[in-house]
Amino acid sequence: MNSAKFYFSLIYTSVLFILSIYLFNSRESDAKTRQANTSPKVDYILNYDYGENVNSDEEVDDSVAEDGIRIGKDGFSIQDSSCTPPGGMVFLKKHKSASSTLQTVAKNFCRYYSIPSESPPVGSVSGGYPGPFQPQFLGAPRHPKPLAISTHQVFNYEIEMDIFPENAFFLTSVREPFSLFRSMFEYFYRRWDSEAAVRNRKCGFTCWGAPYAHWLAEGPAESRVRFGAEISEYLDRLPKIFNKSDPWAFRAKNFQAFELGLDWTRDDKKYVNGKINELTQAFDLILLAEYFYESLVLLREKLCLPWTAMYARSRMVSKPYTKEPFTSSQTNTLKKFYAQDFQIYKYFNQTLQKKISAYGRARMSHDARKLRQMYALCDRQPKRCSFSRPQGRTHKGDPVDNSVVNASALIKYMEAHQGSCEWGAFAKLKNNQPTGCGQDEVLFPKV
Ligand SMILES: *[C@@H]1O[C@H](CO)[C@@H](O)[C@H](O)[C@H]1NC(C)=O
Ligand SMILES: *[C@@H]1O[C@H](CO)[C@@H](O)[C@H](O)[C@H]1NC(C)=O
Ligand SMILES: *[C@@H]1O[C@H](CO)[C@@H](O)[C@H](O)[C@H]1NC(C)=O
Repeated sequence: MNSAKFYFSLIYTSVLFILSIYLFNSRESDAKTRQANTSPKVDYILNYDYGENVNSDEEVDDSVAEDGIRIGKDGFSIQDSSCTPPGGMVFLKKHKSASSTLQTVAKNFCRYYSIPSESPPVGSVSGGYPGPFQPQFLGAPRHPKPLAISTHQVFNYEIEMDIFPENAFFLTSVREPFSLFRSMFEYFYRRWDSEAAVRNRKCGFTCWGAPYAHWLAEGPAESRVRFGAEISEYLDRLPKIFNKSDPWAFRAKNFQAFELGLDWTRDDKKYVNGKINELTQAFDLILLAEYFYESLVLLREKLCLPWTAMYARSRMVSKPYTKEPFTSSQTNTLKKFYAQDFQIYKYFNQTLQKKISAYGRARMSHDARKLRQMYALCDRQPKRCSFSRPQGRTHKGDPVDNSVVNASALIKYMEAHQGSCEWGAFAKLKNNQPTGCGQDEVLFPKV
């Protein structure tokens, strides 16, 4: 390259870089203004607000060591040079807990180390969801000795600890319960205008609307379901309309604990503490959505991945919605209905804080900030964030089971675990009709 060309491309790259930082900043401050206008109360957002300690105008000065941290050429703190990657990955994808991003990272891990992953039999939930995970309810081809999974499932401690390799990495995330509640109410209920919208949704396998739409219908004169009610009406009426035996009732109570495999109807602290011990044994890392970048920094170290493999383009950014503050009686209702989740969240925040301290607070703050900048950059220039995989690892030749999932057994199992639904892919599959999901080709082969 001649020098004119070289200088031109140097300037070009710098301009792009500054532009991307500028765009990132302006988007951030837009988001902040919007947040300030619609939300009188501080609410946790998924991408934890680092506004105070990140000034994106200035790159972190990579050459200067602060507080004794040693900084490497890549701008991150110097990482341990020896690293033994886990032999598998069990990512329990929990709804509305920063889990789409983490799923990408889990998949990147599998790609990087050529580890085959199990797939959902219908839609995007696995293992008989909302029943506890059962390996026969995986998509074909499945592995009799599975190594990895990264889809929605209800954790089944005994079975998953047993069938996945001992050195598999067990990963999941939790989110602050008030914030998770708002997000899930919006996601499962509020964003749907009508029954027709949920009925006609392609491949809806997880019963959109339930149980909220059913519980919010009033009196025999009104129809069985009602869409469009406000979160405040729901919360004010929840103690009266709650019925723990209804399908999908766990969405109204201890939903995080439910997906983590707890009996969501039991609120005694002793029971929950016992389960927290079990989760601590089972999971190598339980991340917090509110400490997103710190969590990723800890995760990278355990997974022995390049930093760029920690990047996930955000896919599931929900439309902004108004967040009225909860009244004190609504707050109490939530504390009561999500008591297990509050207990779990508090506990795993403490364990996360300990892990951050062990990593080194100053080092963490540096690396989390650096990773956040990397995300901003990758959002603008995804190509800069590719990674190539090391050679030599393969799982070709591992035994596979190609038999198609037994759909009627799956439907029965879901029904037995409060997972029935009068619309969507569930109703179609129950009537032996194509579901509209990607798996139809396998479930309904053309002869
Ligand atoms: C609660 O739900 C179950 C299962 O759907 C139903 O059979 C029962 O009648 C409901 N109870 C009340 C009080 O509505
Ligand atoms: C997590 O725990 C720390 C230390 O106890 C506390 O300062 C912080 O507020 C907690 N974070 C959240 C989001 O609850
Ligand atoms: C599928 O499951 C149903 C219900 O559990 C059972 O009766 C049937 O025998 C199973 N079919 C096959 C092919 O295993």
